[in-house]
Amino acid sequence: MTINRLKARNYSIIVGKNSLSTLQIEVKNHCPQCKKIALVIDKKIPKKFVLKIRKILKNYKLFIFYVSSSEKIKNLNQINLIINKLLKLNFNRSDLVIAMGGGIIGDMTGFGASIFKRGINFINLPSTLLAQVDSCIGGKTAVNSKHGKNLIGSFFNPRVVISDTDLLKSLPKREIICGFAEILKHSIINDKKFFNFLKNNTNSILSLENKILAKSILKSCKIKLSFTEKDFKEKNLRMKLNFGHTFAHALEIQNKYSNKLNHGEAVLIGMLVAARISKLKNLCSSSTLSAIENLYQKYALVKNLNKYLNKKQILKSIKFMKNDKKKDDEKISLILLSSIGKTTSPGHHKYKSAQVEKLIKKLF
Ligand SMILES: NC(=O)c1ccc[n+]([C@@H]2O[C@H](COP(=O)([O-])OP(=O)(O)OC[C@H]3O[C@@H](n4cnc5c(N)ncnc54)[C@H](O)[C@@H]3O)[C@@H](O)[C@H]2O)c1
Repeated sequence: MTINRLKARNYSIIVGKNSLSTLQIEVKNHCPQCKKIALVIDKKIPKKFVLKIRKILKNYKLFIFYVSSSEKIKNLNQINLIINKLLKLNFNRSDLVIAMGGGIIGDMTGFGASIFKRGINFINLPSTLLAQVDSCIGGKTAVNSKHGKNLIGSFFNPRVVISDTDLLKSLPKREIICGFAEILKHSIINDKKFFNFLKNNTNSILSLENKILAKSILKSCKIKLSFTEKDFKEKNLRMKLNFGHTFAHALEIQNKYSNKLNHGEAVLIGMLVAARISKLKNLCSSSTLSAIENLYQKYALVKNLNKYLNKKQILKSIKFMKNDKKKDDEKISLILLSSIGKTTSPGHHKYKSAQVEKLIKKLF
């Protein structure tokens, strides 16, 4: 059994098979005064993990809140429910809230923890590949509002993140591809060597071969941390992580968050559009673009690729790009590619909608 520990400034990320076994000692070390623990857990997580947690935390008063994960429940009503339960049970700041689920449960529970009595101990046990490589890092917590996704939130770090790769075995293949999209993004924006590794090892990751999977999760976390540790509040550098996401979010809204196009697939499409625009503007070479396109083709990453990667779809989605909360003026700010491992600087490529429209028309 290999368990790896990655140190962020204020917390650790523990990755590996059976890494949940470290939970007891982590709770003891980080929350020495803790008596009560609330576990907010995704209903789809197999029962054997609930039994395991009960056993590991047998010395604490454990309260389990089951949640059916969906963007529809990632809202202030759910926060209110959780917080009222904690108040009723007389939790205080030295107690502990644990999230066990994907990005939805993690973001929502983290936000609840950040405002409960101005911040209660929080531990994240991410259970999807996306959560293990992306959303568990960087301290962003949030819920949705009727005005848009993730508009209400805070920056709040957990005491520790434990990413047990055994949890991923029950994930549907499409959810694994969602996480892979973020791993790939991290390589494209920051690390050519890692991208070349992915060129040969994508199938091993998608089929959850433990050694390669754990190595890729760890590498991905390191890359995300290298941005978030330097720019926690997303003032500049961290925006590079948005590569492909401006198009992805717009496509998701355009398709009304339909299950036919999930977030990871939208990100994969968004990264291709951003890479193609980069080539069109001569920011990157044709070989950079073909390296990315070849990887997509080799592993057939997006099923209905042509249904969404076409002029009509992308043009229709442009109007939603202006609503991105990361924008600071009326223009659409794009992160583009210089080469594999290097992007343009945040704020250097800002376009009016009409200019983006022109670029898309030239692309297709
Ligand atoms: N905080 C951040 O920095 C950040 C970064 C990226 C994404 N996010 C957020 O993450 C969310 C998406 O996260 P996600 O893709 O993990 O979605 P999710 O939490 O909805 O999980 C995806 C699906 O997998 C199921 N699931 C979870 N764990 C499982 C398991 N072990 N076995 C079987 N099924 C399981 C869930 O019930 C759900 O159906 C979005 O709300 C997004 O805004 C946040």
